[in-house]
Amino acid sequence: MSIEETIWEYKGVCFPRDLTMETLDVLPDFQIRDDDIVVATFPKTGTNWLVEIVAKILQAVGITDRSGENFISPGPLELKLPTRPHPGYVTQAETPSPRLMITHLPIEFQPKGISKPQNKVKILVPMRNPKDTVVSLYHFGNKVMELTGVRLTDNIPFDAFAQNFLNGKVPYGPYEDHVLGWWQMRDDPHFLFLKYEDMKKDLLSAVKAIVAFLEVDLDESTIKGIAEASTFNNMKADMDNSKIAERQAIARKGVIGDWKNMFSQELSEAFDTWYEKKFSGTGITFDFE
Ligand code: A3P
Repeated sequence: MSIEETIWEYKGVCFPRDLTMETLDVLPDFQIRDDDIVVATFPKTGTNWLVEIVAKILQAVGITDRSGENFISPGPLELKLPTRPHPGYVTQAETPSPRLMITHLPIEFQPKGISKPQNKVKILVPMRNPKDTVVSLYHFGNKVMELTGVRLTDNIPFDAFAQNFLNGKVPYGPYEDHVLGWWQMRDDPHFLFLKYEDMKKDLLSAVKAIVAFLEVDLDESTIKGIAEASTFNNMKADMDNSKIAERQAIARKGVIGDWKNMFSQELSEAFDTWYEKKFSGTGITFDFE
């Protein structure tokens, strides 16, 4: 299968085939509510990890009643998942507040209430080093194909896939435009940026930061319990037991540095050169180990 069969390009962004032009047209006017919580990410940077931590927090304060094995992801706002009857935004329009939403769209395609947030809407943005992100995306594409038959990424050797990533030719690419687009909002109090690598190294501090950002009141032992339930192994058990196929494809290795198992020396140097060119001077630094 060729790359054109998995993505289409518009205004310099590569969109997955399941995302339609009609969706891009209507989303800017999708109504964001004051109490919405949005997780906005480049795919494979920790979206579901963060969404499920937020769900556990909301459950602990009595706002939602689903987490753990029974958790049902809202699915990305802009996509119609194979297992769902409608695109995310159609379902979310009918979902009672407070809503928890996911989006992978670059900031310039977002509902206006997200790209120019007002009032109390809260937007969490996880970020992850690009070497591990591309490895995760590659495996995810293959796994989704195996589980659902839907092809998100082209079926090619990893080296060629990684080259496409550098050229921006992957779903929601280019990665650097996506990350830097959201990064412009770093000083806006509606946004919380969290790095995957920091969360791996100190999950308790990350959960505390999320609790503070959401302005909810939880005692120390509940926060510790949420952090403990959100470690990779504990979350993987819930995800693997889920009845929803997409969710079973999420928890793979959950480590920093898996890229070392996939990257040749040459590919690693190509990424380093690209990374230096795109990110130096932006204030964004990632841990790769
Ligand atoms: P890997 O493929 O490297 O294992 P997303 O949710 O954005 O699709 O990201 C998926 C990645 O996050 C996968 O990375 C997955 O294993 C990892 N992940 C999911 N839950 C996690 C957790 N609790 N701790 C650490 N990583 C987690």
